[in-house]
Amino acid sequence: MTVAVDDIVAREARHVLQTYKRNPVTLVRGQGVRLFDADGREYIDLLSGIGVAAIGHAHPGLARAIADQAQTLIHTSNLFYHPLQGELAERLATLSGLPRAFFCNSGTEAVEACLKFARRFWFTQGAPRSEFIALDESFHGRTFGSLSVTSDPHYREPFEPLLPTVKFVKTNDPAALAAAVSSSTAAIIAESVLGEGGIKPLTPVFAAAIKDACAKTGALFIADEIQSGLGRTGWPFHFQALGLKPHLVSVGKALGGGVPIGAALISQEVADTIKYGDHGTTYGGNLLACRAALFVLGEIFDRGAAENVKKVGAVFKARLGAMAVKHKIVKEVRGSGLMWGVELNRDAAAVVPAGLAEGVIVNRTAETVVRLLPPLVITDAEADEGLSRLDAALDVVGART
Ligand SMILES: Cc1ncc(COP(=O)(O)O)c(C=O)c1O
Repeated sequence: MTVAVDDIVAREARHVLQTYKRNPVTLVRGQGVRLFDADGREYIDLLSGIGVAAIGHAHPGLARAIADQAQTLIHTSNLFYHPLQGELAERLATLSGLPRAFFCNSGTEAVEACLKFARRFWFTQGAPRSEFIALDESFHGRTFGSLSVTSDPHYREPFEPLLPTVKFVKTNDPAALAAAVSSSTAAIIAESVLGEGGIKPLTPVFAAAIKDACAKTGALFIADEIQSGLGRTGWPFHFQALGLKPHLVSVGKALGGGVPIGAALISQEVADTIKYGDHGTTYGGNLLACRAALFVLGEIFDRGAAENVKKVGAVFKARLGAMAVKHKIVKEVRGSGLMWGVELNRDAAAVVPAGLAEGVIVNRTAETVVRLLPPLVITDAEADEGLSRLDAALDVVGART
């Protein structure tokens, strides 16, 4: 099949709402950690479609599971039982320690559900609390609730007024958190590793301050694990690395391996306050999405991907550490497992096209950070090849100044 790239681009320009500034590459095929464009060029994907393709592209087992489910039954609505939602909820409960799940279709919906369930909890206590505390480099999504707890004015301003009862505190500043949280706080919400904010893990001291503030005021804690969860840092969820015990957890991205599905995971204490009809969605947890998610979780936690993260994570750490020494433009390397940020001493935007030219896909976040979220199944050899291409891209960008 000949793909007329110019036609694809021109048709999008005419008919697709221009909310995304795309890279000038048309991807048509994937295999494992590799992507191929319409001209047949090959790329090593160190981004996974922003943390989604955790088990790689075109995984034959996932493709079979999806095809089989599509030929059996895709959707029933939540008016009926089907066999897979309970199974997936049980699997997530075992992984997270939170006994209940609400299924939705994206990350922002998972956050939205967590915010609503936190409010519902306090409403049920007969002492409603409306306030949320969020971090000043947070990103939680684009719907009104999630956007309200997202800090970046660039995302917020055109849509204000948002929820009025949100206070932002400095990331990893325990004193600022302690000063902000009070008996009016419904919940503190934080990413265990800030993703869009530049791959910044919560520090153990800040995690302890969250625990302390919740214990003192009764505020709930919502861990946003949409980017950092499901094996990405080697843990089922990164809050576990920090010794945190959230009341609510938002999950998305990798869960369906590309089939849209999100989930809010809920403690029993919060779940006890939710009544029939309090929340819902037509597609949430349909058979196709649950089947995909069960397969993906099997690959990550039963068939070796999470173990692989620990092994290849060490390769990333060593190679990126060496790059930080070699390249003058690299200021700092942060991360763990297969979630890494390479902070430059300048805008990192130029690294993306330079990477594409070298055959590697990365992205820029928080202006100065090159973000790496490779598939969790990447091998040592593929990591080495992908990082060599990134190294070459940094050479090109560094040589320009
Ligand atoms: C931590 C975090 N929360 C929420 C979201 C929103 O998820 P979605 O884009 O699926 O709505 C994202 C997306 O990047 C994210 O990284």
